[in-house]
Parts: sequence; structure tokens; C-alpha cells
Amino acid sequence: EKGSYDHYMLKEINEQPMALRQTLHGRIDGSDVVLEDFPPGSFEDVSNVQFVACGTSYHAGMYGERLLSDWGINADTFIASEYAAYPAPVDENTLVIGVTQSGETADTLEALQRARDRGARTLALTNVIGSTAARTCDDALFIRAGPEIGVAATKTFSSQVATLVLLGERLVRDVTGEPTEGHEQRLRALEALPENVESVIETTDAEAVSRRCLGDNGHFFIGRGSAFSVALEGALKFKEITYEHAEGFAAGELKHGPLALVTSETPVFAIGTGQHLNRLESNVREIQTRGGPVVAVGPRTASQLAQTADEFLPVPATHPDLVAALANVQLQLIAYHAANEMGRSIDKPRNLAKSVTVE
Ligand code: F6R
Repeated sequence: EKGSYDHYMLKEINEQPMALRQTLHGRIDGSDVVLEDFPPGSFEDVSNVQFVACGTSYHAGMYGERLLSDWGINADTFIASEYAAYPAPVDENTLVIGVTQSGETADTLEALQRARDRGARTLALTNVIGSTAARTCDDALFIRAGPEIGVAATKTFSSQVATLVLLGERLVRDVTGEPTEGHEQRLRALEALPENVESVIETTDAEAVSRRCLGDNGHFFIGRGSAFSVALEGALKFKEITYEHAEGFAAGELKHGPLALVTSETPVFAIGTGQHLNRLESNVREIQTRGGPVVAVGPRTASQLAQTADEFLPVPATHPDLVAALANVQLQLIAYHAANEMGRSIDKPRNLAKSVTVE
């Protein structure tokens, strides 16, 4: 089933363009979003959105939250296991979105149950038709990424983000009566996402760059906004399959503590979306002053960032809302190649299961 690939993870990374085409298929019609079960007006009563999720799906939820907030919708993201014990206030105008690839994650199901019990409307954003989340929520929206075998979630993150952009466009129109600002360019960029991911996969230098990260003390990932969620995701992927220490931070938080950890043996991956790049560049210089090597990941057009960093992994220049999703593919490949070089059990990392059905 792996075909010519050594691991499911690499196969699934490479399947992303195809998975994204399935995710988007028939859902964009010119300047409109067409979401099968959600005709215009489906979300007109929504006043705020809460994402509940675990792990990689939590990072996708956070990505969605950053975009929704930017588009004027009240949105928050919660770790499902926390929410299950310490739920946030909701009312009947709260839409609680459980982001869950499998639709079977016990913590996420419990968080959704809590939200439902307290009168919120619940929506499962999932890959699995007929899953518990899909069956028990008021609504379900499918990411259509196809089966994912590798324990490390890859293509499902990309498809979750793409689906969240579509859902976000629908929500904003329903809630405000207007499309999002710049929706035309964003939808065109979403249509171009599969080929842009393809171009990252075809041209990446991640394997060579990953070799420089072996034997280091720690690996840090920083970004702002959607790139912060991808920094957390890049670190999770790296730690779960290499077993090396990795951590993600909001770029602005570095100087509030983590900078103390930076030495010549802690490579830092700095992810830029194309917005607020001068701030990221000054973070890069702060790291370099402490001797930390910096690998920047950002749009090809970010020439200043590319020049400042020690290494640069470019992604196609696209709408700033989608750059971090492309940068994430570079980070998936960094984690994969580092783990492969170290001879790790990539598809079944120690101590981890694909679907965590216990609390
Ligand atoms: C990491 C990973 C996990 C899952 C998490 C949630 O690569 O796969 O962190 O994302 O267990 O799983 P789902 O999305 O099935 O609820």
C-alpha cells in the first residue's frame, strides 16, 4: 500500500495536492463557497465560535481561529481535554467546532458533549464519515482527505485548514451579510493551494537542511498568527517522530523567557506569512546574536528574511492566509527527513496511537 514510498508518512505528505483537490472539489463557485449541507444562511445565528481539538487538529483549529478573528468573528481555541473539565461559557448562538481527523478522539468527543449539554450548537469537522463525532454533533463537515495511516497527521492538517477557510468564508457571509475582505484573492489562492503544495514538494531543500539539525540540543519553531499555529505543529511533528526536543513559541514571546535557551546548538525555524515580516526579522537577529542558527520558512518574495536567515526554505508567494499552510509542508519534510536519518520508527512512533480513544 505504501507503493514506492519507504513510509506512509512520506506517501501522505506527497498525497497532499490530491487530498486538497478532493477537499476543495465543487466547493468554490467563482466568488462563492458551496458547502453541501450548509446553504447560505446556515450560520446566521452564530455570534461566536469555539474550536475544541487535540494535537495536530488543535493546531488546525488555532489556524482557523486566527483567520476568523482577523475577519471579525469572535473565535477561541481550546484543548479538548481542558475544555472537557473546564468548559468555556456558551449559549445557543455559540458554534462549537470539534476538529478531529478520526472523529473518535475521546477528549474531543467529551468536550463536544459538554458543549451540547450546555446548549451550544456543535459541528464535527472530520475526515471520517460515520465517525462518532460526525454522528453525535448537530452538523458535520468532511475534510475528504482520504485515509491516513501514518500516526503523524500530515495531509489531514492541510485539508483541515483548507476546509476551515471555506467554512470561515461561509460563516462571515452569514453572520455579517458581507463576504470577507479580499475573499476573491483568497479563494483564488485556495484553488491554487494544491499546485503550490506540489511545487513545495518538488523543489524543497528540506532533506539537506534537516541534516544540519541532527545532534542538536533542542529545536525551536516561531511564528505569528497562523504561523504561530504552524510553529506549534512543526514542533509537534518534529518531536513525535524524531524523539528530539522541539518546542513552538509565538515569535514575540521569545524575549520573555525562551531566548535563554538559545545557543549555537538550538536551531530555530522562523516561519513568516508575509505579514509583519520586519518583526520576525528582528526576532531572527535576536536569535543570531545568541549564536542560534536560523532556518526561515516563508514566501519566496520575502527577500530580506531570506537574506537575514542562515537557511531559507521558500514557499510560493500566495495569499498571506495560506502561506503558513505551505510552510507547514516544509516542516513536515524537515521532521520526516530528520527522523529518517536517525532511523526512527516513523509510521508508528513509540508510545503513540493513531486514534486516542481513552481520556
Ligand atoms: C499528531 C497527531 C495527534 C492527533 C490527535 C487528534 O501527529 O496525529 O496529535 O492530531 O491525537 O486526533 P484526531 O484529529 O483524530 O482527533
